Amino acid sequence: MKRREFTHWLGLGLLASSLPVAIAACQSDSAPSADTADTAEGEFVAIGTVADLDAEGSLTNRNLQGNNLAVIRDPSDPSAVIAVSAVCTHSGCTVPWDADQQLFACPCHGGRFNPDGTVSAGPPPRSLATFAAKIEGDQVLVRV
Ligand code: FES
Repeated sequence: MKRREFTHWLGLGLLASSLPVAIAACQSDSAPSADTADTAEGEFVAIGTVADLDAEGSLTNRNLQGNNLAVIRDPSDPSAVIAVSAVCTHSGCTVPWDADQQLFACPCHGGRFNPDGTVSAGPPPRSLATFAAKIEGDQVLVRV
């Protein structure tokens, strides 16, 4: 074996022997606990009380950790809640919940969104962004 071939094979051997160490270093050494699972994709944050949600028909917060949000009861499952971005995907107007029509109605150019945030009418090109939401005790929580 020539010297050049020897160094070539020596380099490949070193690379191959260090690969398992590099892979192990890139892996997490523990599974996330239940306490940290929520923070992996964002935290659940209280947006209001269930009593306020039921009294007003929706909960809104224009700056919940930088998000303009609206939360409603899910019309198809009143025990659940739906959280959407209240920012219209057309030109950015704030979209309030219209409880009588059971939709989000944009006041600017007539855009309409279904309770799940999908477009039902008008110029908006995309659905409203949605967020995970839940009721816990007397609080309504949204993952932001
Ligand atoms: S900004 Fe909502 S329809 Fe134009």
